[in-house]
Amino acid sequence: KRLVLIGPPGSGKGTQSPIIKDDYCLCHLATGDMLRAAVAAKTPLGIKAKEAMDKGELVSDDLVVGIIDEAMKKPSCQKGFILDGFPRTVVQAQKLDEMLQKQGTKIDKVLNFAIDDSILEERITSRWIHPSSGRTYHSKFAPPKVQGVDDVTGEPLIQRKDDTPEVLKSRLEAFHKQTEPVIDYYAKKGVLAQLHAEKPPKDVTAEVQKVLSS
Ligand code: AP5
Ligand code: ZN
Repeated sequence: KRLVLIGPPGSGKGTQSPIIKDDYCLCHLATGDMLRAAVAAKTPLGIKAKEAMDKGELVSDDLVVGIIDEAMKKPSCQKGFILDGFPRTVVQAQKLDEMLQKQGTKIDKVLNFAIDDSILEERITSRWIHPSSGRTYHSKFAPPKVQGVDDVTGEPLIQRKDDTPEVLKSRLEAFHKQTEPVIDYYAKKGVLAQLHAEKPPKDVTAEVQKVLSS
């Protein structure tokens, strides 16, 4: 399957992705994770992306389209993929359609992680991540076995630089202005499925499984 996950910051895209990935043997392409890795490695791409990311603004369409175009060539992505955090503008969605058209494929389903803004600050400000695997924890809703330590590797967990209440405001603004039109774009194509992303993680997983098996 070829899937797109859309939702505001903290809606649970990164939490559900590994589960969907394992169930359907897909590759998981998260533009946010790829950009953070580029920033950490100080690559030319990372240097260009850092300023916008720190402010909670979107990185330019050309940069992210380039990353996705490159990543989708991987053999592991040929049978299907989960796009987490891409496309985030209508221009990105159109470019993605063009890329897929060339391969004679298209997006099968778009999962919309619908949730009220008021819930997101608590999710974001108590999130802890394991940078190299992308595993995500939450101090209250999904705590690690040992505080501040990844369950699998025992390595330290960190907090994201953009996970502050101030930067969250800009990220939400970018979502409403630039990404919500993408939801309409896919609704018109008839591939949109709605999730109740405010429910507990297991319930959201059950909804995802229902959508994907139908
Ligand atoms: P990105 O990394 O994509 O961030 P985001 O979209 O803001 O989304 P998050 O990763 O914050 O949220 P999530 O939905 O994955 O939540 P999670 O599952 O972790 O992008 C970062 C930046 O990169 C952007 O601001 C932009 O600058 C740039 N960028 C990226 N893509 C771009 C693009 N295409 N174009 C331009 N710029 C781009 O969950 C959050 C927390 O809640 C966790 O602690 C989790 O444990 C907990 N949680 C999850 N689900 C539940 C639940 N159901 N109940 C209770 N707690 C839950
Ligand atoms: Zn994420």
